[in-house]
Amino acid sequence: MFKHSQLESVKAWLTNPAHAAMPLHARIQRAVRQLILDCALGPGKPLPASRALAKSLGVSRDTIEAAYAQLHAEGFIERRVGSGSFVAEMTRFAPRTRDAPLRNQAPKLSRRGNIMFRSGGVREALTPRPFAPGVPDTRGFPLTLWERLERQVLKEVGTQALQHGDPQGAEQLRRAIADYVNLERGAHATADRVLVLTSSQQAMMLCANMLLDPGDRIYIEDPAYYGARGAFDAAGLESVPIPVDRQGVMVEPILDDPHRARAIFLTPSHQFPTGATLALDRRLALIEWAARYRAWIIEDDYDSEFHYAGKPTACIQGLDSHDRTIYIGTFTKSLFPGLRIGYVVLPPQLVKPMTVARTLLDGHTASIAQLTLARFMEGGHFGGHVRTMRGIYAQRLDVLTGLVRKHLADFVEPHAPIGGLQMPCVLTCDISERLAIDAARRVGVELLGLSALNVSGDGKAGFLMGFAAYTPAELEVAVKKLANALQTALLQESR
Ligand SMILES: Cc1ncc(COP(=O)(O)O)c(C=O)c1O
Repeated sequence: MFKHSQLESVKAWLTNPAHAAMPLHARIQRAVRQLILDCALGPGKPLPASRALAKSLGVSRDTIEAAYAQLHAEGFIERRVGSGSFVAEMTRFAPRTRDAPLRNQAPKLSRRGNIMFRSGGVREALTPRPFAPGVPDTRGFPLTLWERLERQVLKEVGTQALQHGDPQGAEQLRRAIADYVNLERGAHATADRVLVLTSSQQAMMLCANMLLDPGDRIYIEDPAYYGARGAFDAAGLESVPIPVDRQGVMVEPILDDPHRARAIFLTPSHQFPTGATLALDRRLALIEWAARYRAWIIEDDYDSEFHYAGKPTACIQGLDSHDRTIYIGTFTKSLFPGLRIGYVVLPPQLVKPMTVARTLLDGHTASIAQLTLARFMEGGHFGGHVRTMRGIYAQRLDVLTGLVRKHLADFVEPHAPIGGLQMPCVLTCDISERLAIDAARRVGVELLGLSALNVSGDGKAGFLMGFAAYTPAELEVAVKKLANALQTALLQESR
């Protein structure tokens, strides 16, 4: 029979609520297995007869038989006809170290792993509160239409949609994307140059790893999009910050740099986070620079669908006849973040290498979502949705600008953007950015600080205020809460 302590540990497995989902025989099997792995039951030791153990544990003999049968099948015990069950000889290889697992200690990661972990990754709000930036309105999304299109896809494509898909992306979707970026973004795309991905983030990770080597330099805008910076850090690249002014990234530091970088990352339509649009002369100068030095331009066109004043500028990719630009697009802002579909328009020579590389990441993007999206686009619903949302967002931006001027005039200066889903505000009072953000969070208001986005560390203090996902009434409540929070923080700071 088991010793008292052994029997107690089997009973503990049986009564532990964490094991409630396991059938009884599985709990007993796991308990005995643990005794063997902990060397509490050594090789050759007899196990109790099933009848006796059943009695001590208050379970049926069949339950014990099922547990023993599983232990036998996995090689932990031997069963000898007429003499009973014994711990198998081969368990003598069970690790004898008595050290407890180091669960609370920092794991020993690779250097790359450490960089990724320490970066904090890209954390997005699961239930965004005002003014979490970059979040589109999903409450008004035409879900019924989406559901109908998805049903049509399943009906027509049938179980074919359940198979693996083309790693480059479903052809229909690549065609729809190429048509869209050619027409609306002035791009130069064909379906065979489009690679459908899960997100812009995946596109950045791919570019960083496929186009540059660890230690290579890449120019990034300063301030910069944290997701891009994280991707480049993770790939071991050296990000070289280039200042941004009202015309977008400055080109002189790039043209004058004797230690040329191998690539530049840009958000030219709507610089993240300042909102500046990159001037045409700078675009042309960067194309010339990239062509001359065989460098890459990584163009992140993440929210250009939402442009409120005048016509949006065409993308760099369409101006670049030298095939040095990788255009990144996403449906995270234009449709909904949960869709997880982004894409790149690639120079022809990169299509194969990038497609092969993505098979090592995730194989391909989910087929049903791709085919539904293709239909949504082909049917004109994408254009219609974007037009509707553009009107709604423009109104919300107006509302927010008015509210900030009315209630927050003593604290910040708003910089109403010409497009996008968020408004930068620069602090004009004596509250530190950190204090302002913490005070806001305590009253349920989210702000993304501007300072942390500055690579060189000499940026203005302030924050981004997302407005697109929140109704005018919600914006008003949140602005008032923020005004109170900042007032209190200001009093604290002056004490
Ligand atoms: C500049 C920029 N690029 C890309 C993205 C993310 O897009 P995705 O969800 O496709 O990775 C964001 C999202 O906030 C962004 O601000």
